[in-house]
Amino acid sequence: MMQTSSTQTIPKTSAVPCHIAIIMDGNGRWATKRFLPRVAGHAKGVEAVRSAVEACAERGVEYLTLFAFSSENWRRPEDEVSVLMRLFVTALEREVTKMHANSIRLKVVGDLSRFDVKLQEMIANAERKTANNNRLTVTICANYGGRWDIMQAIDKMVAAHPASTGFTEEQLAQHLSMAYAPEPDLFIRTGGEERISNFLLWQLAYTELYFTDTYWPDFDNEALDAAITSYQQRERRFGRTSAQLVEAKKAS
Ligand code: IPE
Ligand code: IPE
Ligand code: MG
Repeated sequence: MMQTSSTQTIPKTSAVPCHIAIIMDGNGRWATKRFLPRVAGHAKGVEAVRSAVEACAERGVEYLTLFAFSSENWRRPEDEVSVLMRLFVTALEREVTKMHANSIRLKVVGDLSRFDVKLQEMIANAERKTANNNRLTVTICANYGGRWDIMQAIDKMVAAHPASTGFTEEQLAQHLSMAYAPEPDLFIRTGGEERISNFLLWQLAYTELYFTDTYWPDFDNEALDAAITSYQQRERRFGRTSAQLVEAKKAS
């Protein structure tokens, strides 16, 4: 299926964001503040993921995309990286059955070739098992980078049309790793930093950005609702004027 592009056609918007994308940041600082090792923050962060998934399903969000491990996070100390990998494995082991029972589809995007073969197999099995679920699509971005995504899409696009030039945005977008999802309506970054950190560079073109100081392990339903409320107060113009929006509303 081809998704509409915010730069080609004006997307339909609704009070509840159809697609929420989150940079789950602040696990380490959450732990340090409590004199705990950083990895305790990551463990607590998994619980916050579980509750965000449930809350989004209850609120009618259709796509929830979570940045779990960036292409730059390999730069961290080896033992932190290996704990993160182990947490990923245990979370898959524990949660997939429950997600499936709740009609949640799971996708994992990123350069998975750098992961353990066993983990790659677990991911493939989880995706296969939940492929036909349609309540909420949860995408975990793992070893993901926005630039990696654009580059791998270019490779695929050029391979599909060798010797072509004059490619269109749509031709590229259909090869992005999340081509199955519309562009995010709402971006949330927890943990106080106000940057994109190489997340969904292409797809965030017209996404509403929301930054909160709350550390990811503390991000509860109330915090999610505050982000959605902020989103509902935005005027999404997609290049038009405010007066045009008022007219369009009257006409509809
Ligand atoms: C986000 O929390 C989780 C990952 C990047 C895997 P951090 O680990 O970045 O936590 P802070 O930013 O150091 O507090
Ligand atoms: C972004 O957080 C990546 C994830 C949450 C997975 P980082 O903590 O890695 O980002 P920077 O390094 O502060 O930009
Ligand atoms: Mg961080």
